[in-house]
Amino acid sequence: MSPIQKCIKKKSTKNKPIWLMRQAGRYLPEFRDIRAKNPDFIKLCLNEKLSTEISLQPLRRFDLDAGIIFSDILMLPYGLGQSVEFKKNFGPELGEVQIENLSNQSEAQFIKKLLPVYNLINNMSKSEIIKEKDLFGFVGAPWTLLVYMINRMSPKKKLNKNFFNNKDLIDKLLKVIVKFTKIHLKHQVRAGATIIQIFDSWAGLVDEKDLEYFIYKPTREIVNFSKSLNVPVICFPREIKDYKKFVETINPDVVSIDYNIDPKDISDTIQIPIQGGLDPKILLSNKENLKIEAKRYLDIFKDHPYIFNLGHGVLPETDPNMVDYLVKMVKDY
Ligand code: CP3
Repeated sequence: MSPIQKCIKKKSTKNKPIWLMRQAGRYLPEFRDIRAKNPDFIKLCLNEKLSTEISLQPLRRFDLDAGIIFSDILMLPYGLGQSVEFKKNFGPELGEVQIENLSNQSEAQFIKKLLPVYNLINNMSKSEIIKEKDLFGFVGAPWTLLVYMINRMSPKKKLNKNFFNNKDLIDKLLKVIVKFTKIHLKHQVRAGATIIQIFDSWAGLVDEKDLEYFIYKPTREIVNFSKSLNVPVICFPREIKDYKKFVETINPDVVSIDYNIDPKDISDTIQIPIQGGLDPKILLSNKENLKIEAKRYLDIFKDHPYIFNLGHGVLPETDPNMVDYLVKMVKDY
């Protein structure tokens, strides 16, 4: 059994496995080389040879316990026929939602568009490097996808008030998102993903009174569906105010925490395996500081099943030597 599966299924506290969100990305010069020659990000994600190579890059450098596929949560709206573009220094830009078109999309059409993603997973699972390690498939949580699909760009810090105006559209769109998220998950698992992470990057934007409708209900459906496929599922409801309530309501196999929440508080109140927490900015400081901060998480979760990770993705300015230092330090703990 892989170290991550042991941690989740056997509740092992002995080993502290490690992988990093955005471990395949811009902080690696070998990624930037490929990226420079491939200006269209979606096309790059759909180039199964290159996306396989990019997913393998961090595993060649560091002794990580899992790979994650090089893809994006916005491949789902793309697969549904909404236009998605990644603009330099701006981020994603989406076209207007044509709800009738999205609702009429068939599973076959969707799968056909995203076939290279499943082929990438298949390639990865055959690779020598991933043996004994886990391979992460992932999806965006319905709420976070809804945010991008309606807002049509990153909400940065807050959503504008008229986001919630069209209740009918929101209701229909959430249903379409849940339906196709399940389809996307099913095909990732069939292709060889051994574990799933659900990214809810904008969970922190939802008011308490709206949590059930936007977060709990749709996420529960996705979590239960993943469990029915017999793969563990990790939820990352970034900046949600009440992680304990989230865990009790959703019942994921693991919850991944952000860097604004007190890890001691999490360790005292939540029983299930925990992942992550370390502020990615710490990797921009120095080794002494990194050691102190990483050790703080390891000490707090010493007697807890814990998967080491960050509280959000690796930042593009990160020195790969700092990542190397971190991985070795966690392995030697
Ligand atoms: O290594 C990995 O973690 C796997 C690949 C991965 C990417 N995106 C590649 C990517 C994963 C797991 C994601 C998830 C993702 N994508 C999330 C959830 C996690 C989070 O960061 O909150 C979100 C919200 C997105 C949407 C997205 N994709 C945005 C807002 C942006 C632009 C801002 C940014 O970080 O660059 C992206 C682009 C993106 N996705 C890049 C990568 C490597 C950078 C593309 C580039 O090279 O320009």
